[in-house]
Amino acid sequence: MRNKHLNIVRPKHILSASQFDRPFLDYFNQLTTTIRRFDKTKEGLMYLQSLLCHKRAMLYFTQPSTRTFLSFQSASQIVGMKTSEIRDTSTSSERKGETIDDSLRTFSSYVDIIIMRSPVRGLCDHIASILDQTDRPVPIINAGSGPDEHPTQALLDIYTLDRSFKNIGGIEGKTICMVGDLKRGRTVRSLSRLLTLYPGTKILFASPEAFKIEDDLRTMLRTKKVEFIETTEFKDAIASADAIYMTRIQDEYDVSGESKAVDYSNFCLKESHLKILKDHCVIMHPLPRRDELDSKIDNDPRAKYWRQERNGMWTRVALMTVLMDVDRNIMLPEL
Ligand code: NCD
Repeated sequence: MRNKHLNIVRPKHILSASQFDRPFLDYFNQLTTTIRRFDKTKEGLMYLQSLLCHKRAMLYFTQPSTRTFLSFQSASQIVGMKTSEIRDTSTSSERKGETIDDSLRTFSSYVDIIIMRSPVRGLCDHIASILDQTDRPVPIINAGSGPDEHPTQALLDIYTLDRSFKNIGGIEGKTICMVGDLKRGRTVRSLSRLLTLYPGTKILFASPEAFKIEDDLRTMLRTKKVEFIETTEFKDAIASADAIYMTRIQDEYDVSGESKAVDYSNFCLKESHLKILKDHCVIMHPLPRRDELDSKIDNDPRAKYWRQERNGMWTRVALMTVLMDVDRNIMLPEL
């Protein structure tokens, strides 16, 4: 539905990065920046807390998570929502043989929004379509669905890029270099989808042969006429990039330890590389990191991943207000 005041397509669920359009992203980034200003005063924070203090959220995270879980929990607290959580199916009735469909339907009886991370590709879409047929069609947020998608990470990544490039012409026309396990990294898949909304943007995918992007992503980029290059030349790629998006090896999806056979030592960003990067280059990582991103880089002004992590909380606050239809209480005085 198009909101007549704010002129954006108002999403019902957040399932995939492909559901967003550019007017939504521009509005969403502006909303997030406005919300961050409320953090400056006690009155501002109390106002945010009043927005959804009558609502409850469920965090169903059956895959490991630190920052996505905590940032959603913190975002819920910032807008006043109470949270319940399941982080391990061994503590829920799924252990007694209840289907996941029935478990999620049960949550919808008690809460007003469900945020879910699962190793199962497509599960969020399935649950959203089931709940849509019930009398409690609560919004579902995909907080990571196997190697498939991570749309809220892509929103915070775009927000970070947008802020970082605000004085040098925005994201359009920039070269973004994604590095690492591009085959199974869901953040790469979702961020690539959003980058297609910024004309002239070029993507460099730098990875060992074994971790190249999958065909679905290749086809999507060709269909959208996005310029992209797949390369194994890490140094050349990072030297020409306006932003570098590092990722870790996603070995939790290994079938029999096959990642161990892959040499990715040439795809690690080290302090010695800093001198070949552009002065304005933005260094990002969805985190957690391993050895692909040297902690000695943390103090370089181009390292933005800790800021990116905090942006995750504020973009998730913004998302809650949009889904629960209270964003106009934040934006209307601005418009
Ligand atoms: C990512 C994830 O879980 O997909 N992390 C995150 O959500 N911040 C990336 C990763 O785990 O490597």
